Amino acid sequence: MKKNYNQADAEWEWYIGQLYSKLIKNLFIKRINCVVELAPGFRHKIADALKELDFKGTIYVIDNSSDVLTYVKKKYKEILPEAKIICIDKSFKDSIKYLPKKIDLFLSNHSIDDLIISTYSKEKYSINTNNELLNNKLLKLWEQLYNDHSSIKEITNEIYDSFKELFKRKNIELVVMSQYQSNSYFLGNTNYMNKIVDKCFNRIKQLTNTADKRINKLLDFYPFGIEDERYNGKYLINNTQNAINWIAGTIKKEL
Ligand SMILES: C[S@@+](CC[C@H](N)C(=O)[O-])C[C@H]1O[C@@H](n2cnc3c(N)ncnc32)[C@H](O)[C@@H]1O
Repeated sequence: MKKNYNQADAEWEWYIGQLYSKLIKNLFIKRINCVVELAPGFRHKIADALKELDFKGTIYVIDNSSDVLTYVKKKYKEILPEAKIICIDKSFKDSIKYLPKKIDLFLSNHSIDDLIISTYSKEKYSINTNNELLNNKLLKLWEQLYNDHSSIKEITNEIYDSFKELFKRKNIELVVMSQYQSNSYFLGNTNYMNKIVDKCFNRIKQLTNTADKRINKLLDFYPFGIEDERYNGKYLINNTQNAINWIAGTIKKEL
C-alpha cells in the first residue's frame, strides 16, 4: 500500500521526540526559554519533545516552504499551547539575521539530506511533494548529484558555511540534531545519498563538542519498552539510538 508521506506516523514522531527530550533533559539542565528549529517538514517530533519538557518559551521555526509553516503554526499551537511560535519563511542561509542573539537550543531532525537535495533540485517543498525515499525520481536525483562532484562541493560547502556562520554569530547553548538512516537504506537504495549526507553531517558535527560515548549512554533506553521486537533488529540500536547519527553538544569556542 502506498504511504501518504504527509500523514505523520504519530508513534514514530513520538519515539524520535522521546530521544530528543532525553538528550535535552540531560544536556541542558536549565529552564528552556528560546528554541530554534530548522526544517520541520509536515512533522512534529521536536514539538512532541518540547511538550515532554513542559516548554512554555519561544520557538523560532525556519523553513522555506510556506505550506510547511502553515501546518507548523496550527500543529505546534495544539501541542504547545503556551509557547510562542515564530515562523521564519526563509531559506536557512537567509534566516540567520532574523534569529535572536541568545538561543538556548538549536534543534533539527533529519534535515541535512533535504537541505542538500532541495538546493540541487531547486524545488520547494509543498503539500504535494512526494518525498518518499523509494521514489525513483528522488533516487535518480541523488545518483545524478553523486556523479556531479562540483555541485556536491558547492552545495555542501554552502550548507556547512551557513551552520558555521550561525554557530559563530549567535550564542547557542546546545545543538541537538540527528541524521539517522532512512527506511530505504535498509533496502540498499540510498548509498549515493548516504555518502554525500554523512560527510556533510560529520563536518557540521566537528563544529560542536559532541561526546559520542556520553550520547550513546543517554540513548541506551527503550522508549517502546524493552520487550518490543524492534529492538531485536539493527534499525533502532545501530541507527536512531546511535551517537554516530547525532550531534548533541555545545559549540566549539575556537570557531
Ligand atoms: C522532510 S523535512 C525534514 C525532516 C523532518 N524534520 C522530520 O523530522 O521528518 C524537509 C524540510 O526541509 C525544508 N527545507 C529544505 N531546504 C531548505 C532550506 N534551504 N532552508 C529552509 N528549509 C528547507 C523543506 O521545506 C521541508 O519542510
